[in-house]
Amino acid sequence: MKNIKIALPSLKSAKLRRNINVETIRYKLDNKYVGLGTGKTYYIFTYGCQGNEADSEVMAGILEQVGYKLSDDPMNSDVVLLNTCAIRENAEQRIWGVLGQLKGRKRENPDMIVGICGCMPQEENATNKILESYDFIDLVFGTHNREHLPELIYQAYLTKAKVVEVLSNEGTILEDTPKIRASHHKAWVNIMYGCDEFCTYCIVPYTRGRERSRSKEDIINEVKELVELGYKEVTLLGQNVNAYGKDLDGDYTFGDLLYDLDKTGISRIRYTTSHPRDLDEKTMLAMRDCKSVMPHLHLPVQSGDNDILKIMNRKYTYEEYMKKVNRLKELVPDISITTDIIVGFPNETEEQFQNTLKLCREVGYEGAFTFIYSKREGTPAAKMPDSIGDEEKHDRLNRLNVIINEGYKKGHERFLDKVVEVLVDGESKNGEGMMCGYTPNLKLTHFKSNDLSLIGKVVKVKVTEAKTWFMIGELCE
Ligand code: SAH
Ligand code: SF4
Ligand code: F3S
Repeated sequence: MKNIKIALPSLKSAKLRRNINVETIRYKLDNKYVGLGTGKTYYIFTYGCQGNEADSEVMAGILEQVGYKLSDDPMNSDVVLLNTCAIRENAEQRIWGVLGQLKGRKRENPDMIVGICGCMPQEENATNKILESYDFIDLVFGTHNREHLPELIYQAYLTKAKVVEVLSNEGTILEDTPKIRASHHKAWVNIMYGCDEFCTYCIVPYTRGRERSRSKEDIINEVKELVELGYKEVTLLGQNVNAYGKDLDGDYTFGDLLYDLDKTGISRIRYTTSHPRDLDEKTMLAMRDCKSVMPHLHLPVQSGDNDILKIMNRKYTYEEYMKKVNRLKELVPDISITTDIIVGFPNETEEQFQNTLKLCREVGYEGAFTFIYSKREGTPAAKMPDSIGDEEKHDRLNRLNVIINEGYKKGHERFLDKVVEVLVDGESKNGEGMMCGYTPNLKLTHFKSNDLSLIGKVVKVKVTEAKTWFMIGELCE
């Protein structure tokens, strides 16, 4: 297949942070593309974080605006997009696997357009591999140019060539896009894009560009619209939401935003992800004062050892982290805290790992995503020599998970015999005649009912059983 390379990724330029104003683009569909997808279908496979899920909702909105309809047979759609994640090696392995399956499909249906987008194409290695070994892929684009989607598809149809546009600039802010949201009662709301933290193991600052905050007016208006549409819950998204506003004029912060959003009438506000260094007093006070801000905080610690934290470039110490955790518990006694932890960072000693275990016991996490360190080409940690064997890394992960899983269970046990408010998501996979949803503390709760009219409503449930991964309860009359 012929290649049209509009732009290729460069990790080196992706690293640059220039002091120029971020451009806000107000999306408007060019008439040229109206009807581009009429009579055709699409499907988007989404991997990775909530940021990718939100991006997929925008791409679905753009595709439906030009006439595409969601396919009920993903592997046989006219346009198939893979919105990818590059955070760890195994995230990428899964995607190469799905691409393998699509290859066969494309052979049977040569008119199908296969596109790969999101974080993986932002990496030079991944894009080179796609260009060299995955000839059947028609479209390659990254995280900075979703608004070009109709043009890229148009080009692919017109030229029958592979169209590659991966921009490594620091990104813009895209407003006013259509969106097809996955839920009718819970919504993602991006409040900022990108990341400037440069933790030494992490690829995100390279794949997502510099930190850039949406205007508070755009965010507040989006939440008000969601309230009018009947939405009950918003999750504010950003790689480091606590840095919200730092790139804007004035001294409006994330805490101020929480107080303002509380007044919109939305029932539940969640946010992710919080960087411990930037979590400030005002945000913690907002968690105490605002009824809609839910008593759950995901506060990734990564390690409990000061030397490792330093080499990771996390910019806080164990003591500083614990001080914030304790302050939070003082202000919001009912809070549930969850975290992310990496084990087996280059040269982590057993003693350093023990410091992580000690911190976990001290905080009393009620959940965590735990990972074995994965080397990401282009990041500073990738150059660090690593002496720990695979077996040792897995053993540490297992030992850590024992403590974390106990925390999950304890987090559920504390609600035994209590009445909790559950925002109902739908029928439960946990057995016939069961429905499920989440409590304010983000505890998955199953209860007996087959009343589908409860979906999207908040109901009271008395907790009767506490398991490791969920709670079971009875619907209160
Ligand atoms: N911005 C968020 C989340 C980033 S990615 C934050 O800072 O917390 C989600 C998690 O993936 C991280 O918190 C980290 O625990 C993990 N992660 C990131 N890079 C990794 C790597 N190279 N190897 C293993 N885990 C990694
Ligand atoms: Fe990655 Fe660190 Fe940014 Fe999180 S804060 S996205 S871990 S660089
Ligand atoms: Fe993955 Fe990109 Fe999110 S690397 S975790 S999809 S920002």
